[in-house]
Amino acid sequence: MDASSNVAVIVRGHPLGIASVAASVVVGLEARPIQVEVCSSRGPSFFQLVGLAEAAVREARVRVASSLASLDVLLDEYAITVNLAPADLRKAGATLDLAMALGILVALGRIGEHALEGTLLLGELGLDGTLRPVRGLLPQLDGAKRRGLHAAIVPAANAIEAGIARGIDVHLARNLDEVVQHLTRRRTLPRALATPFAPKATPTFGDLSEVRGQATARRALEIAAAGAHNLLFIGPPGSGKTLLARLMPGILPPLEFDEAVECTSIHSVAGLLPPEQGIVTERPFRAPHHSVSEAGLVGGGDVPRPGEVSLAHHGVLFLDELAEFRRGALEALRQPLEDGVVCIARARARAWFPARPVLLGAVNPCPCGYHSHPRRRCVCSDEARKRYRARLSGPLVDRLDIHVAVPPVEVSALTSVNRAESSAAVRTRVDRARSIQRERAARLGLSTSVNATLTRSELETVAALDRDSRRLLEAAVEKLGLSARAFVKVLRVARTIADLEAQERVRASQVAEAIQGRLLDREIPR
Ligand SMILES: Nc1ncnc2c1ncn2[C@@H]1O[C@H](COP(=O)(O)OP(=O)(O)O)[C@@H](O)[C@H]1O
Ligand SMILES: [Mg+2]
Repeated sequence: MDASSNVAVIVRGHPLGIASVAASVVVGLEARPIQVEVCSSRGPSFFQLVGLAEAAVREARVRVASSLASLDVLLDEYAITVNLAPADLRKAGATLDLAMALGILVALGRIGEHALEGTLLLGELGLDGTLRPVRGLLPQLDGAKRRGLHAAIVPAANAIEAGIARGIDVHLARNLDEVVQHLTRRRTLPRALATPFAPKATPTFGDLSEVRGQATARRALEIAAAGAHNLLFIGPPGSGKTLLARLMPGILPPLEFDEAVECTSIHSVAGLLPPEQGIVTERPFRAPHHSVSEAGLVGGGDVPRPGEVSLAHHGVLFLDELAEFRRGALEALRQPLEDGVVCIARARARAWFPARPVLLGAVNPCPCGYHSHPRRRCVCSDEARKRYRARLSGPLVDRLDIHVAVPPVEVSALTSVNRAESSAAVRTRVDRARSIQRERAARLGLSTSVNATLTRSELETVAALDRDSRRLLEAAVEKLGLSARAFVKVLRVARTIADLEAQERVRASQVAEAIQGRLLDREIPR
């Protein structure tokens, strides 16, 4: 129906009532306030929706009218106009249903106009008035609090996620009828109970004690876990790169509450949080296939959704067979890896998502995979190998803190009866190094509590170099042509190695080990 043709109808009819109730939508991870304004009059029946509504919101008319009919409120005799303000923000999804239905009931005089003051309404309606769970509840409850609202009514199916929000009175309803009874004081809706937080270890596919040999790769994994550094494994097929990477979650410290809140918001907005789970309790481990699109990896879409790099926030993003990923997708990863956030610009809105995973990559050393293998011959031409290496050493790899070789497992290690150290033992050291970093961050007021994100100027204080270390680094810069970015990364990794040894000052031996972790810089002089 053309909106302008209805204006006359409203003016000719007898206005019955006006209502304005609070709702919101999420853009990225931010709640944007929406005011649902309803004007009703007796007259030729219509139900129009204005205010830049997407298809799912326009269809709300059907769900809302049918839900109201289930309460014996028939809209046949009314002319109803619903305006979603602000008009210049595109609204998608079905979470505005509940606010529209209640706005209409207020406008029709079925609910007192003050009953909904200061209350956020969120929920998708079924045709029979059932309230269905919504995406992105947690950021919207936070947004409501910041907007000065003191209460919210949300679907009961969202109870666990609702229980994470603090400082707002959240009521749970199973259907529209329960909400109406609550607002007309015939019954009281239950409040969301505070959700208990019990972090769990991310299930892994085994234990480090099952890995044979590979001392250097194990050490790199431990350093990466201790300082939240990005890490690339380079080695022939079958050397255990995938195996090792999948064991990373087992040596990371458990998720903290604040981190869990962020992870929960991201998964909730993405629609990947089963309502019965309600809160993320494990560090995420995401391993997208190499065919993943740019939008799938970093986020995107008309209604911006988080990509793998954000879904892995506070956890691990594992890119197996890194060289096989689309070039565009990998290039799009560069900015989030540097800044820790993804920004998606759209014509009418800008969405952002946090993106600070530990990135793990695995690649073969050459197209056939057997370059510098002790027992097998590489069949790649020099030219092919060079091209392949140049692709790896591109700007993405420069942003990885550590690259190490994972050679084929030594025969003696395969047959040895000695069991290697367990994941639990390694995690004890990682935990200790993490708490040293946390204490230092608190003591010095640093911007971050993990070494991987220390700024250059913070490094000058926390990783001050002695004379030997300085000489070593200068030589490395000259010989390897380390970029300024790589230089900073070496300092951060050296700081982590010192933390694993519980040492206050960074020493030359630690700087040397950090330089060893720049395999690609060492092999491909610029
Ligand atoms: N160092 C190792 N110790 C124990 N098992 C290993 C080791 N390296 C490889 N394997 C086993 O060999 C198989 C191939 O390993 P995988 O991790 O897929 O190698 P890659 O990813 O380097 O090609 C796996 O079943 C793995 O369990
Ligand atoms: Mg593999």
